[in-house]
Amino acid sequence: MSNEVAVNKIALLLTALLAMPVVASAAPAAGQAPAQRSGAVILKAACASCHDNGLMGAPVTGNKKQWAARLAQGNAVVHRNALNGIRAMPPKGGCRSCSNEEIKAAVDIMIARSK
Ligand code: HEC
Repeated sequence: MSNEVAVNKIALLLTALLAMPVVASAAPAAGQAPAQRSGAVILKAACASCHDNGLMGAPVTGNKKQWAARLAQGNAVVHRNALNGIRAMPPKGGCRSCSNEEIKAAVDIMIARSK
């Protein structure tokens, strides 16, 4: 293999590698952004396993006594703790596919049912 051929092959490879992220980032733009799921849907799918029955010490949705001190922190703090996690509560309740907006919507329902 001459040096020139080798250089050409490397150049081709680099071009292909550089083009890949462009294609990958263009893909979502072509389709529609996924529609936001409602807080009720998220709550049932991603939160109820712990928050319906107090698993791992989770405050039970609708139990005003268990929520009082948490709600006293203010909604902004409660939202933030749900997004970032707090002690045994994993970030976003472990829902990696959930957007921040979806988590906040789920928290808003928890709050409304628990105050
Ligand atoms: C694996 C169990 C588990 C799942 C799933 C889970 N949580 Fe939690 N959550 C907890 C636990 C445990 C706590 C209490 C943490 C503590 O304060 O020690 C908690 C606390 C919270 C709090 C109170 C935060 C505060 O400021 O005191 C909110 C709000 C919350 N979770 C929202 C959610 C939402 C929304 C989901 C679903 C997207 C969810 N959780 C899913 C276990 C879970």
